[in-house]
Amino acid sequence: MIERPELPPGPLRDLKTVLYELYLRAEAPTLSDIAAEVAALADELDLPGAPKRDTIGRIIGGGDTLASQQDTVATAVVLARMTGREPAAVAEQVRDLWVRASMAPKPAEPLLRGYVPPPPPLMVGRSGAVAAVLARLTRASAGQAAVPVTVVRGWPGVGKSSLAAAVVRQPAVAQAFPDGVLWAALSEVADVRGQLEVWSSLVGTGPLDATSTVAVSAAVAAALRHRRVLLVVDDAWSAADAVPFLLGGTRGAALVTTRSTEVAHQLAADPAGIYQLAVLTDGAGLELMTHLAPDVVREHRDDTAMLVRELEGLPLALQVAGRLLAAEHQLGWGVSELLAELRDGARLLAAAAPADRSDIATATTPTIAALLAKSTDRLPEEIRIRFALLGAFAERPATFDGAAVGAVWQVPDPRPTLRVLAARGLVEPTGGGRFQLHALLSMHARDMLAAA
Ligand SMILES: Nc1ncnc2c1ncn2[C@@H]1O[C@H](COP(=O)(O)OP(=O)(O)O)[C@@H](O)[C@H]1O
Ligand SMILES: [Mg+2]
Repeated sequence: MIERPELPPGPLRDLKTVLYELYLRAEAPTLSDIAAEVAALADELDLPGAPKRDTIGRIIGGGDTLASQQDTVATAVVLARMTGREPAAVAEQVRDLWVRASMAPKPAEPLLRGYVPPPPPLMVGRSGAVAAVLARLTRASAGQAAVPVTVVRGWPGVGKSSLAAAVVRQPAVAQAFPDGVLWAALSEVADVRGQLEVWSSLVGTGPLDATSTVAVSAAVAAALRHRRVLLVVDDAWSAADAVPFLLGGTRGAALVTTRSTEVAHQLAADPAGIYQLAVLTDGAGLELMTHLAPDVVREHRDDTAMLVRELEGLPLALQVAGRLLAAEHQLGWGVSELLAELRDGARLLAAAAPADRSDIATATTPTIAALLAKSTDRLPEEIRIRFALLGAFAERPATFDGAAVGAVWQVPDPRPTLRVLAARGLVEPTGGGRFQLHALLSMHARDMLAAA
């Protein structure tokens, strides 16, 4: 029995539906039978094509393949004869649908299903990384037993989530994964079950009375069995958290991001499936600073270049430093002192801090811890306290809307404060009035809260 192809709505699906219905009405003859019938009737009916078994299989099933018009019409005519329907009318209809299917544009925009974070507002120096990850994702072959996993590994703040958010929007993803992209945001405290339930409603498993996570995962897997989807699992802290999302039997691929080498090795099928996302090159780092603080870079090029190196090209750190410098410059204050302070403070802390000094110091380097402290030290006291209070949002990733934050701060209108924090890169708008606190900054806020 040929399996019914699953396709997104469009003329190709309409065409395949007509063919598959004819096939079922003819009581699912074997490919050999159809091929024999085609051969026998070729002259009698003046069939336009003479498809063989394999081609017939691809015409009736065969996912999104479009065979030649002649072979498609010939197959339809033979099936119509087997069901006693008027061959000429069927030929006409199939020819018409074939023409429309062949003219339909290939989807250029990936189908993002459910929540997918917005594209990074500014991304420098990552075209090579985007291409490398895409190549791994689309390398995935047909007939796979388990979903092939590509892992992007790198430091917190290096840009893994941003890279993934950029990758899922590439036109190549639309072509390779026509059934769309599903995104699960994990993190330190991962809501595995909740995220799986979101996927379950997106792919239409129907209501589940399944109680275990494994059962929900299995239901989603079944719904995705023949779909070509790209599954993204962002920020996996443990392999166990990620596994329920790596649904075997799909015809798709999975992309996992993690900071942990251990998790990367546990999840990737082989070392070639791991992409190590490096910090920005000096050139790209300076380019980023130029976007964020153009005047500062113009006036203090060498010092800024040095700062980029001190901050080890970490995008998160550069974002925070760049905005800090721009804000200071805009107030008409000289920034040479701040530049020196940023670097000196960094050096001091790097020399003094024991590695386990705090969450942040262990998660990255003391340099970054110093930088984050520097940027929050400069906030007006009231705003600094409010920033620290954001450490109370326990869920990860820490996202919140204006109302939630207003309640925590006990202010009627949180927007002026959010505006200040967003301008300094301390919170990030994620669209729809929601904000996110990057993992590192959230740790920093918790540190501040604990110290207060
Ligand atoms: N290539 C880049 N160019 C500019 N900014 C970047 C780049 N990559 C990441 N960022 C910024 O750095 C911060 C951290 O990036 P994110 O993707 O959240 O890191 P990760 O997921 O690795 O922890 C974000 O503010 C993001 O916008
Ligand atoms: Mg991330």
